[in-house]
Amino acid sequence: MCPAWTLRTSFSVGIIDALFQTLDTCIIELMSAAIGRETSPQNLVADVVELESRYLLQNYARHPLVLVRGDGPYMWDAAGKRYLDFIAGIGVNALGQNHPRIVRVIQEQSARLIHTSNLFYNQYQGPLAKRIAEISGLQRTFFTNSGAESTEGSLKMMKAHGHDISPEKYEIISLENSFHGRTLGALSVTGQPKYRKDFEPLIPGVKFVPPNDIGALEAAVSERTAGICIEWIQGEGGVLPIDAAYCRRARELADQFDALLCFDEIQCGVGRAGTWFGYQLVDPPVMPDIITAAKPVACGIPLGFITANERAAKSIRPGMHGSTFGGNALAARVSLEFFDILAELLPQIRRVGDYFRGELRRIAAPFDFVTEVRGYGLMIGVQLNIPGKEIVNRAMQEGLLMNCTHDTVLRFLPPYIVTEAEVDEAVAILERVFRGL
Ligand SMILES: Cc1ncc(COP(=O)(O)O)c(C=O)c1O
Repeated sequence: MCPAWTLRTSFSVGIIDALFQTLDTCIIELMSAAIGRETSPQNLVADVVELESRYLLQNYARHPLVLVRGDGPYMWDAAGKRYLDFIAGIGVNALGQNHPRIVRVIQEQSARLIHTSNLFYNQYQGPLAKRIAEISGLQRTFFTNSGAESTEGSLKMMKAHGHDISPEKYEIISLENSFHGRTLGALSVTGQPKYRKDFEPLIPGVKFVPPNDIGALEAAVSERTAGICIEWIQGEGGVLPIDAAYCRRARELADQFDALLCFDEIQCGVGRAGTWFGYQLVDPPVMPDIITAAKPVACGIPLGFITANERAAKSIRPGMHGSTFGGNALAARVSLEFFDILAELLPQIRRVGDYFRGELRRIAAPFDFVTEVRGYGLMIGVQLNIPGKEIVNRAMQEGLLMNCTHDTVLRFLPPYIVTEAEVDEAVAILERVFRGL
């Protein structure tokens, strides 16, 4: 590893802290030009919020924080305040910010070739797909740009598989409390009515079943079932692992009724749980026919994938699916580098994740409002019996970024490069926040 990188906490972070104000005058200049008057680091947040309120779709409830720089697991706002980032762009910034090997390949590749479209070959998609085949045990990959696009492609695969057998075979089974994305197809299989209600009617033929209820699953699957979708660990739903026995039964039912089993690994996959994929957490793994992935796959450059075995892949024939951006040279090259680094990091993800859960349990012990600490690797949920929003806001004020999902679950998705020392820093902040409640 690059020496500058290993010295991250002791040296480069301090340097950025010290030199911050002089480093970022360009941000102030850009904003001043946009609003037509001088802004300052102190006024930047108010000016950004005001400008966005006039020109952006008002769909996000953002925190009033403008992040302008990052290094490893740290980020800085425009006023030079430092944050320890334990949500990592919702699981995207797998190597934190400014990782020297990722910076190097982005610089090299962007100077050489960024995008060609899929009318032509680039030299990176083949090696990357081969790599994914080796680690997943599935054979064929299609590259996408986001989680929702991966879900969409997987749905088309399941529908086409069913259609090849019978026009009546179009049903998809999905789990209550799941989250598969915001596009119309992905919403159709997302088992949370709050996300679907404004857009109904959605795709017909979707049946929702309660997670881990094998009887309900058995009752729902039939000859009409084209596919079954499962998030191995429900992320947005509150970091809730699905039972291995349930997934095994889903596999048997998919085989019995000639349906495809799809694991949504968009949040829990690609290293997050301390294994290449969430389904590899159990031995022997329950093999899916399709996996969907995105988030960490190219460290913040948009890239996702669908990987399928031959049985599922054969349902998509020439002309049936495509993507203009998917797997472009820049994203695929970065991802190849990322997978090399991830091979080295998997043991650290498991070790630091175990340590983090242990420390969370230790600091939570005196507080009745924490009822459980759960998760795998660096995908961790802290179940509360009170709303978590105030804890998230106070932690942010104290310099720790995380989020709250399902109102009462604190969710931690730190970058894979975090160390025990950085966990100690996060846990100390959280303990202060817990004490102050
Ligand atoms: C399990 C899962 N599936 C799908 C998605 C959708 O991904 P994206 O936001 O990249 O479209 C997400 C996003 O959080 C997710 O966690």
